[in-house]
Amino acid sequence: MTRRKLIAGNWKMNNTVAEAVVLTQEISNRFENDWTDTVDVAICPPYVDLKPAHTVLEFDKQKIAIGAQNVYWEASGAYTGEISVAMLRDVGCTYCIVGHSERRTLFGETNEDVNKKVKALIENKVQPIHPIVCVGESLAVRDEGTYLDFVDKQVRAAFAGLDATDAAGCVVAYEPIWAIGTGRTATPEQAEEVCRAIRVTLGELFGDERADDMRVLYGGSMNEGNAELLLAQEDIDGGLIGGAALKAESFIAIVKAAL
Ligand code: PGA
Repeated sequence: MTRRKLIAGNWKMNNTVAEAVVLTQEISNRFENDWTDTVDVAICPPYVDLKPAHTVLEFDKQKIAIGAQNVYWEASGAYTGEISVAMLRDVGCTYCIVGHSERRTLFGETNEDVNKKVKALIENKVQPIHPIVCVGESLAVRDEGTYLDFVDKQVRAAFAGLDATDAAGCVVAYEPIWAIGTGRTATPEQAEEVCRAIRVTLGELFGDERADDMRVLYGGSMNEGNAELLLAQEDIDGGLIGGAALKAESFIAIVKAAL
């Protein structure tokens, strides 16, 4: 098993360019490059902040990756308001969050859309952008007890038509909707149960060897207080951090918990 942990900050719709530059600089000032021997770190600011954040990190020679929060699957053309994979690559992105529950519930993103985005991101084999595919059940589905089945279907739909080679470098983030931004974190046992089940699904899709290499993150009110226990679980390979990624101190504390 060669999985390295990944800590990714999802800034959501926060920070103007000036604010993003300050936050990126604060993160950079507290970051030590030799941490990347054991953990990968990424920040995912809004589109307009990607290039400025990347420039700060490039200037500081910090090994912190940049990711986007969304993408469109077409290469170019009349798609008002959308951003292509090539545009993300051009501003230095190496990750892209796909299918976040906020996009699914507020913007009507479907499993089919998620699948098209994943395919577009990995199409360029030389310079792929690693998708961070978000899955996770609502409170109603959790209470019904069908959450493992629900998440299994989301994972299968996201990766439909892909083989084990395509899946290399793809990341899955288990984010129970009831834990996002609510302060109600899944317990380490609850998170591990689903992350483990996701790896079983990945094994069925791509074989155990590939599944063993793919990173499965947990997200949902992860913070410096609960990160260590969550990250200690066998099948939790990192975190997708929302609120706690908006302050350099708490984000760096979570990175340190992954060391
Ligand atoms: P949260 O968000 O950490 O604020 O709960 C996580 C996410 O939505 O990715």
